[in-house]
Amino acid sequence: MKVVILENPEAVAAYGTEMFKSQLKSKPDSVLGLATGSTPLALYQQLISANKNREISFKEVSTFNLDEYLGLAGDHPQSYRHFMNDNLFRHIDINIDNTHVPDGAAEDPLSAGNNYEQLIKAKGGIDIQLLGIGRNGHVGFNEPSSCLASRTRVKTLTQATIDDNARFFSADEYQPHLSITMGIGTIMESKHVILLATGASKAEAIKATVEGPLSASCPASALQMHLSTTLIIDDAAATQLR
Ligand code: F6R
Repeated sequence: MKVVILENPEAVAAYGTEMFKSQLKSKPDSVLGLATGSTPLALYQQLISANKNREISFKEVSTFNLDEYLGLAGDHPQSYRHFMNDNLFRHIDINIDNTHVPDGAAEDPLSAGNNYEQLIKAKGGIDIQLLGIGRNGHVGFNEPSSCLASRTRVKTLTQATIDDNARFFSADEYQPHLSITMGIGTIMESKHVILLATGASKAEAIKATVEGPLSASCPASALQMHLSTTLIIDDAAATQLR
């Protein structure tokens, strides 16, 4: 695990963007694993700019998002499909049919999870997976106690995650407590992993991720066993590292 500590969130986004750019330049038909949340937004903005000035193209790219709320269809404003369309896909030259987000409206979520796994395999696997991290060490919606070999499946969100994400929902809006998420096993099969973390609220989770012990109590700690993971974090998120 390589840990890159930078001054501020802007530098974190810029470093991550450069890694994505070189991936796309060396393999124009890359399969990208993507995340939602606040952390990747600046990186997405920079990818959009790089696409607009023709530095990189997404024409041959396929994407797979980590997770989706179970119970929200893709046209729901709080769905992660909606988030991705709004914050990335509709601003770049990607073929929308090549973008994949787990189906939050699936009638049979178990099969939906298995189908998602098959689709990733059929595309040749994920070349580079972008991750954020929850304050409790979750990646995707793999909450503490998740099986470290897990695949795409339904997961119940912890109260901590529901509280953290309440900021995206208005008071009278239904906030799902269930998700469909890639598993830790799925993430671990990505050829490269980039985890971004900024701010003091992530410092404890970063310490547990980097310094261990490797444990389902901090699902991100499984990345200690991944051969090509880069953590890109700012000074505030690094404060608890030894
Ligand atoms: C989102 C996801 C989550 C977030 C994490 C951090 O697709 O998989 O694991 O990355 O909850 O969220 P932010 O970036 O909002 O702090």
